[in-house]
Amino acid sequence: MTLVDLKIKGKILQAGKIIEGCIAVEAGKILAVGKTLSSLKSEKTYHLKENEIVLPGMVDIHIHARDLEQDYKEDWRSISRAALAGGVTFIADMPNTVPPTRALEALKKKLDVAKKSLVDYGIYSGVPENPKDLYKMYPTIIGIKIYAEDLIREDLQETLISAKKLNLPVIIHPEHPYLIRDVEILPRSLARPPEAELLAVRLMLSRALILNLPIHLTHLTLPESVMEVVKFRGKGLRVTMDVTPHHILLDNNIESILGKKAAVNPPLRPARTRTLLYNLFLQDVVDMFVSDHAPHTPDEKDAGAPGFPGVELALHLLLYLILEKEVSWRVIRKYSYFPATLLGIPKGELIPGMDADLTVVDIKYEWIIRNEDLYSKSKFTPFNGWRIKGKVVKTFVRGFLAFDEGSFLIKEGFGKIYGASHG
Ligand code: NCD
Ligand code: ZN
Repeated sequence: MTLVDLKIKGKILQAGKIIEGCIAVEAGKILAVGKTLSSLKSEKTYHLKENEIVLPGMVDIHIHARDLEQDYKEDWRSISRAALAGGVTFIADMPNTVPPTRALEALKKKLDVAKKSLVDYGIYSGVPENPKDLYKMYPTIIGIKIYAEDLIREDLQETLISAKKLNLPVIIHPEHPYLIRDVEILPRSLARPPEAELLAVRLMLSRALILNLPIHLTHLTLPESVMEVVKFRGKGLRVTMDVTPHHILLDNNIESILGKKAAVNPPLRPARTRTLLYNLFLQDVVDMFVSDHAPHTPDEKDAGAPGFPGVELALHLLLYLILEKEVSWRVIRKYSYFPATLLGIPKGELIPGMDADLTVVDIKYEWIIRNEDLYSKSKFTPFNGWRIKGKVVKTFVRGFLAFDEGSFLIKEGFGKIYGASHG
């Protein structure tokens, strides 16, 4: 009889369906999934309760961990604890830190702070200061993030071509700088209008098609953007996209209640747009879901800093949709398997060979989101007061029980970096 490290028995979400069975874990990986796995003996066995289901650990490919010169907003310890509480076992960090991650020296500084992480992680570079820097940062980086202001850079073409050569995922923030105005002068909805998104989406899709470059468009807010992506898929372009919890669940009416605190980029859209986007999200065309966890202090939020913390809420909002709004469990793959596939990491599905990242949720647990209960340093969410059904009770990272009903059981530094070479 083979001895394995751990077995988990109960309800398992596999490929979007719930099955009754057993997962065997050995050396941090899923060894087998089956009905009883009686030929495998384990050192430890968890029997899930009637109300519990084990999901894959979530993979959030768009977060801002801050740290470095902005560690008052968030740091790798606080964000990774928030991630564990939210059932997220992998986070990919954006390069708009201070200093920005766009050259080797800055990347080294980031690696030094990121090693505190409790969860596994990847680091994006921005468009490099010098196109050659990309080769120096490869393969430590997991992809490239292209911001609005980069869309008009002359050296963008060289970066895109290098990304293609290196097979590096390219994540695009689609808002065209020519159509962005000053938010101090105009309301955000006018300063960052839908036209800015649509223009950037169209230009980058056309450019990618000419280069035959696979791209990923992040935080789309318009049904028209989604339909453009579908059109270019029809032309043979490999293009993926994601949406955020706030753009599919909130509209700009909350600005009258929250004032400047409702600020986020891209902005929240009118109710009709939001409903159409939500309906598209429920279809298979929108591949992915990201939190765009963007923490700021209360004073900064009062002054209109854009972004919300969300890494601990995103899965909970999906659970709310599944358990209260009859959305299919298949939606979970948009926040696990599909993003993991984009970044080429062995995570996001409960099948043999994957990292044993497991999130146990209690589907009967009812609770209310409260600003003050957030694990993030940023104690403000526009979802404050939402009644949620379903809660993360345990999170395992590579077979280790890392989070157990509010307690963190692994040490800082347990998280492992995944770079570009894991394809
Ligand atoms: C982002 C942040 O705070 O880093 N904010 C946001 O609203 N998504 C940056 C940005 O995209 O403006
Ligand atoms: Zn972001």
